[in-house]
Amino acid sequence: MLYRLARPAIFQLDPEKAHDLTINTLSRYHHTPLRFLYSQQLPPRPVTVMGLNFNNPVGLAAGLDKNGECIEAFGAMGFGFVEVGTVTPRPQPGNDKPRLFRIIAAEGIINRMGFNNQGVDALVENVKRAKNFDGVLGINIGKNKDTPIEQGTDDYLACMRKVYPHADYIAVNISSPNTPGLRTLQYGEMFDELLSTLKAEQAHLADTHDKYVPLTVKIAPDLSEDEIQQVAQALIRHQIDGVIAINTTLERSLVDGMPHYREAGGLSGRPVQLKSTEVIRQLHRALDGAMPIIGVGGIDSVTAAREKLEAGADLVQVYSGLIYQGPGLIKQIVRHI
Ligand SMILES: Cc1cc2nc3c(=O)[nH]c(=O)nc-3n(C[C@H](O)[C@H](O)[C@H](O)COP(=O)(O)O)c2cc1C
Repeated sequence: MLYRLARPAIFQLDPEKAHDLTINTLSRYHHTPLRFLYSQQLPPRPVTVMGLNFNNPVGLAAGLDKNGECIEAFGAMGFGFVEVGTVTPRPQPGNDKPRLFRIIAAEGIINRMGFNNQGVDALVENVKRAKNFDGVLGINIGKNKDTPIEQGTDDYLACMRKVYPHADYIAVNISSPNTPGLRTLQYGEMFDELLSTLKAEQAHLADTHDKYVPLTVKIAPDLSEDEIQQVAQALIRHQIDGVIAINTTLERSLVDGMPHYREAGGLSGRPVQLKSTEVIRQLHRALDGAMPIIGVGGIDSVTAAREKLEAGADLVQVYSGLIYQGPGLIKQIVRHI
């Protein structure tokens, strides 16, 4: 309700300024009475996935809190889990601005942020400070733009080693369209090599820290059914613990002709809703229960969340829906799911 009143003012702002203002406000004022403006009491909907206990199956998708600055605030909104990142080994500024666009008529977003983040060390410090968060914390890791793709594995390893003791699960992002070459890691030998290296490191870190942190992989929607099959087989072969479907799409068919539709980057929100559900359905068939699926893409209502669960998702995540609907969306979904 409150968000519906505030949204016109927020939408008057440039999208990235609105984003930065939100993150700054949430991180700065969360420890003041202002938090009552967005805190919500939700009924418990406990689920256990990947051996982790979630208060409810609705999570915040990666990319909104890239540096882990507002983990407690998003927890207070009612998310059962929060995925922070994508974080890279070294800080990087991301692409030139403007790089974030609202496609209001379709309730979509196009972004080409390019992993702007403060680096893994800063994220870890923020995570350590979030002591009052009682949800499940995912940390999404990526590679720096100037690391050659052939050495990409080293970046994932560097992040993994640093976040491992602090994460409940780790998400390996090989599906952002905004880091040149990144998506090539989803195919063939490169994919196999990446997964086997990260899996070996997980075993080593589990030993060192006496704690098993599930490893998930986040995939793109722009894959054919054949490619989804191959991805699924590789994930099974390497005993990956879960898969996140999907990241943003390069496709524009559902926003054709709308303001900003030609902007380069990844499209999210309502225009990817059906596509995401279809990928989840195909993935679910291909995986045959071998690992859980975290369903994300265009969830903007209880019905949309249910469709993801019915297609085979075990958990769901929201990003664009939160921008268009506000925190009330989390409450609705958790209540009625
Ligand atoms: C502005 C923006 C930035 C994003 N950044 C990331 C990111 O850093 N890492 C990632 O894995 N996904 C990122 N995503 C993708 C989302 O996590 C999600 O997979 C996608 O937006 C589909 O969900 P939605 O339709 O609910 O937004 C980003 C999305 C948006 C809109």
